[in-house]
Amino acid sequence: MTLSYDDAKQALQQNDQEHILGFWDPLSEQEREALLEQITTLDFDSIKRMKTMLAARNEDGLPFDPETKPAPVVEPTDADLAEYCPLGEEQLRAGKVGVILVAGGQGSRLGFDGPKGAYGVAPITNATLFEIHSRKILNMERRYNTTIPFYIMTSDVNDAATRDFFTKHDYFGLDSANVKFFTQGMWPVLDPDGRIIMDQPGHVFMSPDGHGGTVTALQRTGMLADMATRGVETLFFFQVDNPLVEIADPLFIGLHAANKADISIKVCAKRDASEGLGIVATCGGKCMIIEYSDMPDDQQEALAEDGRLKFLYGSVAIHIFDRAFLEQEAAAALPLHIAHKKVPFCAKDGSTVRPEEPNAYKFEKFIFDVIPDAATALNVSFDRAEEFSPLKNAEGNDSPETVARDLTLKHARWLEAAGIAIPRDEDGLPTIKVEIDPCYANSAEEVAKRLPDGFSINGDVLLKDEE
Ligand code: UTP
Repeated sequence: MTLSYDDAKQALQQNDQEHILGFWDPLSEQEREALLEQITTLDFDSIKRMKTMLAARNEDGLPFDPETKPAPVVEPTDADLAEYCPLGEEQLRAGKVGVILVAGGQGSRLGFDGPKGAYGVAPITNATLFEIHSRKILNMERRYNTTIPFYIMTSDVNDAATRDFFTKHDYFGLDSANVKFFTQGMWPVLDPDGRIIMDQPGHVFMSPDGHGGTVTALQRTGMLADMATRGVETLFFFQVDNPLVEIADPLFIGLHAANKADISIKVCAKRDASEGLGIVATCGGKCMIIEYSDMPDDQQEALAEDGRLKFLYGSVAIHIFDRAFLEQEAAAALPLHIAHKKVPFCAKDGSTVRPEEPNAYKFEKFIFDVIPDAATALNVSFDRAEEFSPLKNAEGNDSPETVARDLTLKHARWLEAAGIAIPRDEDGLPTIKVEIDPCYANSAEEVAKRLPDGFSINGDVLLKDEE
């Protein structure tokens, strides 16, 4: 229930945030109601944690524990593929697998006006990230004659636009009853003195609580209950920005099941010591991911006996969770991560100012902070050229250009494996564009099976499923 003015004032006073009512008098009735509603949603326990963290922000980050060791990593062999893939396929056929996509971020580096998933990335058709992900799921549903519920996390920033996009595109062929949107939590940002920032006289500026907000959001919105009703036990988790991701990969699912893991983590070898991936490590018997910025330089650069980096494997936020583990973690207070950002604020005269310099501290929860709570966490390595090329920036690394290149390269390799020669330049890059609709084929084997007899190329190659 929405707080009354008096109750709101009392709660704010108790938390040193009474400035939020500073513009009350000139507000319209409607604005007052909206502001009281916002105050009602403020989670003062979390805000207290934010203020404590802010006060300590000049201290060094967490000390690096010298007992920290690289976590064991399974590097799957052909024998593993033969043994564990059927186990994963069995789970898929039995309808025990669901998919969680986190798409609540603001995509500020890309600078695209809309949800990042609505960004066109495919080299020929400009198919969007949402289309590519959805059609991979559709392919799996057809292949295993099953249903794979698709849980998509949005935030207030992009929820309506995301739902509209799926409706406009008829859910890309998926059954809308199995596509569930849920919104993550939002919370305020603080100024350097720990005061909540308003962006208008009657409005608190709110920001998404990070992809770590997924777990509580799944519970709050009834998605964990939906999974239980459907008999879904295994959840494949991924981020919206990676069109190469192998969604619900049966080998990964099989390994997770065989090891009875609470969480499994796909990891890849870092390109070099300076690459900013969080590394997988163990300390005190627990598995964890340590952020790049929390690793001392000498540890980042340390070499193992085989000459490779000692802390070689990094996480790209592709996971499998057991539903029971997610249920357990829904009540966990994950640590907060802090970032200094530019945020619009309400000046003394009531106008909104867009600062040139960072003025605010934003807090986020990260999904990988649940890992130390897992009784069993399994790290599985993969080939990044096959499965990882994220869209982060408008240009340069991890941009539309590199994503389209990597999609073309992956699909070119599939065609080459099927005996089709693809022209390449001296740098090894295809001189034509290649695009394969995930419903036409989603692996080299499937391409080989579906290509018509006598298939030959003559310019760009687009293979599309017309069903
Ligand atoms: P990033 O941290 O790369 O953020 O998110 P972003 O929003 O895509 O881009 P920038 O940093 O603003 O440029 C990685 C993944 O986590 C999701 C994003 O949607 C993306 O899939 N995410 C991030 C959320 O779902 N919620 C959040 O609060 C933050």
